[in-house]
Amino acid sequence: MVQKLIEKFKELYGEEGEIRKYFAPGRVNLIGEHTDYNGGHVFPCALTIGTYGVVRSREDRKLRFYSVNFEKLGVIETSLDDLTPSKEAGWTNYPKGVMWAFEKRGMKLSHGLDVLIYGDIPNGSGLSSSASLEVLTGLILKETYGFDVSMVEIALIGQDSENNFNGCNCGIMDQFASAMGKKDNAIFLDTNTLNYEYAPVVLEDAKIVITNSKVKHSLVDSAYNDRRNECEQALKELQKAVDIKTLGDLSEEEFETHKDAVKSEVCRRRAKHAVYENQRAIRAVQALKAGEIAAFGKLMNESHVSLRDDYEVSCEEIDILVDLAWKIPGVIGSRITGGGFGGCTVSIVKNDTVDTFISTVGKAYQEKVGHEAEFYVVEIGDGGHVI
Ligand code: GLA
Repeated sequence: MVQKLIEKFKELYGEEGEIRKYFAPGRVNLIGEHTDYNGGHVFPCALTIGTYGVVRSREDRKLRFYSVNFEKLGVIETSLDDLTPSKEAGWTNYPKGVMWAFEKRGMKLSHGLDVLIYGDIPNGSGLSSSASLEVLTGLILKETYGFDVSMVEIALIGQDSENNFNGCNCGIMDQFASAMGKKDNAIFLDTNTLNYEYAPVVLEDAKIVITNSKVKHSLVDSAYNDRRNECEQALKELQKAVDIKTLGDLSEEEFETHKDAVKSEVCRRRAKHAVYENQRAIRAVQALKAGEIAAFGKLMNESHVSLRDDYEVSCEEIDILVDLAWKIPGVIGSRITGGGFGGCTVSIVKNDTVDTFISTVGKAYQEKVGHEAEFYVVEIGDGGHVI
């Protein structure tokens, strides 16, 4: 596959010069959802699907981008002197945003690049294709220009570009998972301190199955930013009653004691989710380490209920998928994953149930919703790297 990308690269940009290849993965979050901008814990893992980049340095300041996923757009030509976001720039706003964020930190890009991109993350699936493109770009810049930046810094730069160049106020989870992923491990990350720990995902007789609802409701970014604002409002009010820096500082009991400080009922529910979900993520990791997979699955199910009812980031199609999954014996846990309003669910399914799961959920979903879902039995892969 990489060979094909190289051939395409040469066809587009010519044969001569040194060509370098990179990969950065997408991610799936097992538990700890909408906690990463609330000072809580997350537990994502990198996938083996993601974004590939083939790159060559230029002598001038031109940037040429081509995506195999958007062939019709052809080669998009721009320059290092035009690192500003624009509608016309389309997908190239992601790599340009990362370039902008490097330059902002004093890491000046001395010459232009020819770039070819290919991603095998299904479009709009919520498995972090944009974060993988950001981390990929960070890695390309680090290696091409020899900058001394760590992979954690690359994740932070990616988040900065997403927040301040591309206008989505996301947390650090997706970029961190894409940059720092480790084969067969999930990352238990404290988003308040960025302390992290790898936890081997040993499911013995079960697998991780991602189900793509193939719906993505509009206004995702604005609904996401609304949730953030509601949590910030709740935090401000709680801070008048109790000495905390983030919602992640509260235990469930402390939240229950002080929750009336939050005047709006909606903001109170949002904060409740953030507090309880953080504690669930902590407990889930303990359960996984102790080999208590059933307990892990139960926490996943509770996470879904909280995201559906208190945080209100699920949608009809996703709830259908989760309800169907919950009814199947052999499904240990199932929940919405990622930002929400469509996208994917993540389920832990016993090996001998995987086929039944796919056929039963697939058939019933098609009947109820009118289109097919897609299923991916996934492996946990490494973070961004040079190929
Ligand atoms: C999106 C954001 C992440 C995180 C999740 C929800 O994927 O990019 O930062 O907030 O939603 O957990």
